[in-house]
Amino acid sequence: MCGIIGYIGKNENTEETIINNLKKLEYRGYDSSGICLFDNDEFYVHKSLGEIKNLYKNLNTKIKSNCGIAHTRWATHGKVSILNTHPHLSFDKIWCVVHNGIIENYLDLKKELLEKNIKVCGETDTEVVANLLCLHKGSVLEAIEKTIKILKGSFAFCIMNKNEKNTLFLARKNSPLYVAKSAKEVLASSDPVCFGEKFEDYYALPENSICVAKKDEIVFYDFNLKEIKVKKTKVTVFEKNASKGNYNYFAEKEIDEIPHVLNNIITSYSSTNYFEKIDHEYLKDINSIKLIGCGTAYHACLMGAKFIQEKTSMECSAHIASEFSYSNPKINKNTLCIFCSQSGETADTLLCLKLAKQNKAKIISLVNVPHSSIARGSNIVLPLCAGMEIAVISTKAYNAMLFVFYMLSLHMYNTKKFKNIDIIKKLKKLNKTNFFYNLNYIDDISNVVLKSEKVFFIGRGEDYVSALEAGLKLKEITYINCVSLPSGELKHGTLSLVDSKSLVFVIATKKELLSKNLASASEIKSRGGNIILVTNLNVDEENLQDVDFVYHFYKSPEELSSMLCIVPFQMLAVKTCLKLGYSPDKPRNLAKSVTVE
Ligand code: G6P
Repeated sequence: MCGIIGYIGKNENTEETIINNLKKLEYRGYDSSGICLFDNDEFYVHKSLGEIKNLYKNLNTKIKSNCGIAHTRWATHGKVSILNTHPHLSFDKIWCVVHNGIIENYLDLKKELLEKNIKVCGETDTEVVANLLCLHKGSVLEAIEKTIKILKGSFAFCIMNKNEKNTLFLARKNSPLYVAKSAKEVLASSDPVCFGEKFEDYYALPENSICVAKKDEIVFYDFNLKEIKVKKTKVTVFEKNASKGNYNYFAEKEIDEIPHVLNNIITSYSSTNYFEKIDHEYLKDINSIKLIGCGTAYHACLMGAKFIQEKTSMECSAHIASEFSYSNPKINKNTLCIFCSQSGETADTLLCLKLAKQNKAKIISLVNVPHSSIARGSNIVLPLCAGMEIAVISTKAYNAMLFVFYMLSLHMYNTKKFKNIDIIKKLKKLNKTNFFYNLNYIDDISNVVLKSEKVFFIGRGEDYVSALEAGLKLKEITYINCVSLPSGELKHGTLSLVDSKSLVFVIATKKELLSKNLASASEIKSRGGNIILVTNLNVDEENLQDVDFVYHFYKSPEELSSMLCIVPFQMLAVKTCLKLGYSPDKPRNLAKSVTVE
């Protein structure tokens, strides 16, 4: 978590360039932010709480600086306060540090500093690192090398030292960091999205590397200070497409882009056979398939597991990454691990990927951000082609995950069962449907949500997964407490919560499960709850006596329904959020990319 910027440029507007780039990283956290400008042999540090726009307040714009670093924070160690906001200076004011990640042994290191009478004022792990840097004799680079060697955990650092003007020192382990150089400027960032405007290419710092960046050259080292070569990566449309256009919020724009995402997938997968390596030989010895992700990506894994198991009859299960890594999972060369991540940087998911590698499992990943850590660590990458997703709530990327899992399930079916289903043709069928059908009802439905005290989402099978994702979307940005559960589980406990102030969304997209879902609706009605049935099935009027309202989304073949039914819920969350006066792009306490465990 957290976003880092480092910049070396011209004398004018350095602070503006830095803050504008920092804003592009706001999705990574926005509890507080800070900047340090290197001016006339002095560090000028300025910090503020809340959104990055606050950083302009009281900023001394008279400072003429060529070089600076900045940080947007999502608090992990220590409360949100100016004292804990980065950048952090060492006690001798020689070093200035911004950090993304978690130093796990920072309390022990803090103790060691205290024993040497070095007092650390704040509660962050980063301030400990800034002070440790002063303890080492030798060159700046050697001090950095010695310091990072004693750190446990994950880090991306951008560091300045008073004795080395116009130089950025970068280091990374388990947290992403990128750097780009043009004839005029150097920019370091936690995300290549910052390079879209001005740079042609950039470098991704390799795992366990240090980088010394100056205007005339960028040099990379491993952790033993042996120089290493790093290849440049071209800036793509992906990094360039990061603006809101005519929309007020990215979330609105990103939901509207869902049909384009499907189009992109069709075009991209028609021209490249991303499934080529997943052939009969590859699948032959696999006896277990594990899909792993976090948050919305985990929900996509749940859906993907249902798609794959249904089509191939292979044992397939979905796992929450943070649980998986500590559950002593059985993984070996006969296991296929499929990782799913929009950002490709989620630390919990990345940890599972490492575990899968150590245990020689086969690895496939579904990733939206090309060149991300998860993409780079996988043998087979299935791109999500969703384009940059900026709103913290994941919408179009979730849809893309479902589209790609659906394709993968069909491909595995073809391969395992020697069939020849035309996958692209199936997607084209989906492309002819209408994701936004009947959305004009959403406004009224959001008024009902706002009048309700409790909101529930229920369904069975794939519809239960949609219930989970629908509930997550609504709670993430409206702060309404939502409960999602399998319809059959309602009577095993949660029904006790249902009363006349409850609103229950019953999702039903499978004909064979309809009567069971309607039975759950009756259980709710007899406890006074209000029911909205969300379906694209034909339901006879006489079966609807316990239902208050039926929301029909676009009719499609059953196997496509789960890819259509989530869109009205994504819209509902955004509409309700806006009525409450909140931002759907930046929900409180959350960040889009969680690069700490
Ligand atoms: C964060 C975001 C979620 C996202 C999850 C996984 O918690 O707030 O929206 O679903 O991370 O992210 P990933 O990038 O791995 O899909």
